[in-house]
Amino acid sequence: MNQLTNTKIIDDCSQAARALKDGLLVAFATETVYGLGADATNPRAIQRLFLAKGRPSDNPLIVHLSHSDQLTQAALCVPDSAKILLDHFSPGPLTVVVEKHPQINDLVTAGLKTVGIRIPDHPQATELLRLANRPIAAPSANLSGRPSCTTWQSVAEDLQGKIDYILKGGVSRIGIESTVVDCTGEQPVLLRAGAVSLEQIRSLLPQTIPWQGLPRDSGLAITISLPSPGLRHPHYQPKAHVHLVNSMVEAMQLSKEDPSSCAFVGLMRQCTKRQTSCQKDAERVVGGEFGFLVEFETISEYARHFYETLREADRRKMRHIFLQLVGEDTLGTALRDRQFRAAGVVQFGN
Ligand code: TXA
Ligand code: MG
Repeated sequence: MNQLTNTKIIDDCSQAARALKDGLLVAFATETVYGLGADATNPRAIQRLFLAKGRPSDNPLIVHLSHSDQLTQAALCVPDSAKILLDHFSPGPLTVVVEKHPQINDLVTAGLKTVGIRIPDHPQATELLRLANRPIAAPSANLSGRPSCTTWQSVAEDLQGKIDYILKGGVSRIGIESTVVDCTGEQPVLLRAGAVSLEQIRSLLPQTIPWQGLPRDSGLAITISLPSPGLRHPHYQPKAHVHLVNSMVEAMQLSKEDPSSCAFVGLMRQCTKRQTSCQKDAERVVGGEFGFLVEFETISEYARHFYETLREADRRKMRHIFLQLVGEDTLGTALRDRQFRAAGVVQFGN
């Protein structure tokens, strides 16, 4: 079953759509991260998808559509809350969990009666989904547990020989996965933070609650029962040990034994005062001792390149990665969640 496949890297959307219709596995770009697509109505294709990713079978997949016209192909009923969110944020980085249509294979939803649905905002993905003209299940196109992929080259690094096609697209614009909102209960529940923030959702649906898991300071990997099955598995982890720090100085202190095997990934501070600027220059000089040093100017840039930077640190054989924690404003909340998960710590609550 797990034989080596000849993975073809292609540019042609129609060829990729034909492959999806034939039950084959096709990775494609979206605005969040690359997805690994398979026909959500074809059990054999879905089985192969789980196998290729090494994904636990109890972790359901998100179904992707080209347009809201297709909603009835994936959902049995779409509650008003989901309609409101889809109207405002789709196409875009939002997934709504609603009651599943019987034609969506049970393997896709890991036996749940609900399904996550997303309409991506990426011209190539829209065209591919339109041509395939069926619901396409697409988890992030990475080996299970590894950082997601935001370039086709990274998809090839993880999945070459395991999937049929990689449709070449550019770098994913947002860089972290969609916001997931469960719309099946009385109150919508935010299950995963993403580029659509809790505040934006609450401006339309004030009753929305964030899912509250472990206390902030528990520091424990999650083991208890969770509303989104994916939350119980390790995620986004590079091979290097990830440490969360507040500043470069903190990283420098922790890495002083062997800085050349350490990466620092941080956020440039806006220097308004001369003194701050001098301190920053000093940090930069010493920071040069890190084996790999990346500083982003904005949180969006940090988010866009986050997974690729973790992967690059692995390619450069770094043993430790120091991630400078970002603040909790809009996209920062989502990025911070991924930083904690990359470090093997799950933190919830907004
Ligand atoms: O941005 C994205 O959402 C990307 C791109 C490719 O669209 N996809 C993605 O898929 O991140 P994946 O499989 O890596 O993450 C899907 C998350 C998992 O945490 C899963 O447990 C949750 O969505 N999920 C899927 N269906 C669900 C359901 N019916 N109920 C609760 N959670 C669900
Ligand atoms: Mg994933």
